Amino acid sequence: MLRNNRYETKINFEEEILKLKKELNAVILVHYYQEGNIQDIGDFIGDSLELARRAKTTDADVIVFAGVHFMAETAKILNPNKKIIIPDLNAGCSLSDSCPPNLFREFRKKNPNHLAITYINCSAAVKAMSDIICTSSNAEKIINQIPLHQPILFSPDRNLGKYLAKKTGREMLLWNGTCIVHEAFSEKKIFKLKNEFPDAKLIAHPECEENILSLADYIGSTSKLLNFVKEDSSRKYIVVTEAGIIHQMEKAEPTKMFIPAPSDKSCECNNCPHMKLNTLEKLYLCMKNLSPEIILSDEIIAKALVPIEKMLAMS
Ligand code: 13P
Ligand code: SF4
Repeated sequence: MLRNNRYETKINFEEEILKLKKELNAVILVHYYQEGNIQDIGDFIGDSLELARRAKTTDADVIVFAGVHFMAETAKILNPNKKIIIPDLNAGCSLSDSCPPNLFREFRKKNPNHLAITYINCSAAVKAMSDIICTSSNAEKIINQIPLHQPILFSPDRNLGKYLAKKTGREMLLWNGTCIVHEAFSEKKIFKLKNEFPDAKLIAHPECEENILSLADYIGSTSKLLNFVKEDSSRKYIVVTEAGIIHQMEKAEPTKMFIPAPSDKSCECNNCPHMKLNTLEKLYLCMKNLSPEIILSDEIIAKALVPIEKMLAMS
């Protein structure tokens, strides 16, 4: 039971959310970087690709998206006739912010013969100007299907782009964006942790900087990291990604030890400030008020759907 002084009576948010879910015929989709109590109430928890797939196949009337804005937009593009609501409309993303549509349009104009493969962490308007969308789960597979003579623009994550260029052997023109969480991990502090826990494996998300990735025993998207710790025989892991994923790791492997990698500042920067804007209370309120809702123009939806469908077909 949660107490909240702003309410005259005590509200059990979990109970109310479950009631509203039935009344609305809603589904709650949750990204791994949400707080544990939100993950625990979700119908489906996943990475960006899994959530997009779920959004495409759900028969619910309302999609409650506990994640960030670009993820909820993707759900809207895949379900233009459904109501998509989000706990906090301000839950953005530094990668998406790094790539304003007007500058992306110029980038494309300057490179007219390049194919634009764009990471899903971007606005609907940028998706609408892209050729193929990808996530960190499927990007390598998608790039490997592009003919070798075809030049590629990869936006907006320069770290993921560099990692993919190395993995696929493809030269790509990269947009200069970064994730504020994954660029902030401290090499020095990670070395210290490695010394302290010499038997721990280091697992990292490909949005991290190259020097951090070079230390990793395994690199993968959020759900790939989760699958790795389930299948691998080690007992300890240094987890170099947003700390929210550790909730599912601990649930899946309660006897293993998961050590969150620290960032280079004296803050809890391994928690995404955008993802963590969502709270259980805001989740309840958005379902009660059916707001904030994701609204996109028909034109943007129609244009952005094409590269998203291409991604789903190629992954
Ligand atoms: P994935 O969920 O695809 O691993 O992406 C991580 C991320 O930073 C989402 O914002
Ligand atoms: Fe964006 Fe990074 Fe937060 Fe993911 S973790 S939403 S990429 S800022």
